[in-house]
Amino acid sequence: MQNISNPRGTSDILPDQVPAWEYLELNARTLLKAYGYREIRTPVFEDVALFKRSLGETTEVVNKQLLEVKSQRSDSNDDAAFALRPEGTAPVVRAYNQYNLGRDEFLSKLFYVGPMFRGERPQKGRLRQFHQIGAEAIGRGANHPLLDAEMIGLAVALLKAFGLNNFKLKINSLGSAEDKQNFAAWLRQELKDKIEHLGEDVKNQYERNVFRLLDSKDEAVKAIIAGLNIGTQHLSATGLKYFEDVKKGLDQLGVAYEVSSNLVRGLDYYTHTVFEISYAGLGAQDAIGAGGRYNGLIEQLGGGDRRQPEQTGAIGFALGMERILLALEADGKLPSAKRGLTVFIVTNAEELEVQAFALLDILRKNGISADMDFGRGRAFKKQFDQANKLNASFVLILGQEEAKNQTISIKDMATGEQKAVPASTIVEHIKNVLKG
Ligand code: HAM
Repeated sequence: MQNISNPRGTSDILPDQVPAWEYLELNARTLLKAYGYREIRTPVFEDVALFKRSLGETTEVVNKQLLEVKSQRSDSNDDAAFALRPEGTAPVVRAYNQYNLGRDEFLSKLFYVGPMFRGERPQKGRLRQFHQIGAEAIGRGANHPLLDAEMIGLAVALLKAFGLNNFKLKINSLGSAEDKQNFAAWLRQELKDKIEHLGEDVKNQYERNVFRLLDSKDEAVKAIIAGLNIGTQHLSATGLKYFEDVKKGLDQLGVAYEVSSNLVRGLDYYTHTVFEISYAGLGAQDAIGAGGRYNGLIEQLGGGDRRQPEQTGAIGFALGMERILLALEADGKLPSAKRGLTVFIVTNAEELEVQAFALLDILRKNGISADMDFGRGRAFKKQFDQANKLNASFVLILGQEEAKNQTISIKDMATGEQKAVPASTIVEHIKNVLKG
């Protein structure tokens, strides 16, 4: 029979790889909490309408990549179609609205860590199940340009806390919803004649979501875009002032950035500030994190005060964990997967195994990490090999000699030193040694 493997575009995170993931998660949680963010955990699947309404019907993520989930229950009376979440922003906004978090909080600072799903064509750094660390700041108190600077600064601080330095931050501003419409209209006008000779795909993008052409991979489109003088002319005076204030905040934080007028992002909900962080060593999939402001989304999903559409502000970002790990690996900075264990117990007589088992229990109950060899009557040498493999600091030897003298021999694996200790004091002895 053929073996079943994990689905293409997913990866198993094996025990040797888990320490690197824990390292990212631990560092991220510590820093996010220090910035005032609290964790939120939403389901991995949601009503498909949530993503259509927020990310945009014409975006690639919704159009081509949603992984839908179907219940097999025929008696189910809810006909809702579900999709695995392709990102975390829409679910967080859904929860923000559903629990009316804005009622009690002027500013809700939320973060999440977890798997996201997109039916993309898998390649290096592009998976169908990947993981994001994300942060979202939502509320009436989320309209200050310094919050944009804080958010971008936080993404940068996280990457630095992980040990990455060689990344590049690009920022841009799309302006208000109205500025964005003006920008789209201007782009259509500029491109109308220039793309006529190009393929159907390009024309489709032009019709459905003209912004996508700005970061197109198509060489002909790239050349046309390079010839446009985009700049910030689509921004209104307030939009421009807002962007200037964001940049001042970043300068204040000492965060290095490049303004890129082609940066528009692939999801529809963005307004004003958008940003992307890339790492050059990763090839085609070099974005290790991205985000931006999405002021209208709360109302668009039914929350906030509809009479004042821009009252609830929102901004956030997500970092791609797999890509960050690839970047750390390229920089030779992946934390070691070395195992650690304080004590390993070996015995050389089957009748002593139960005694060894009892000692194991006592050690563990005293908070000392410990293990033993469960191979019945395995050779002493094999048991020592196992202790080395587990990187044990000490080996406790419970042999016939020791049993007769009511002692236990303890071997320090670093120095090779070995001595016999009365069995009744072994726990105290180890505790003292550990204290140094
Ligand atoms: P995004 O740019 O779609 O934005 O994804 C953010 C990051 O997730 C990317 O920069 C990348 O590192 C990682 N990523 C995305 N797709 C894949 C994939 N197929 N395989 C591996 N990694 C991937 C968002 O998701 C927005 N929700 C970010 C945001 C939060 N905007 C505002 N708040």
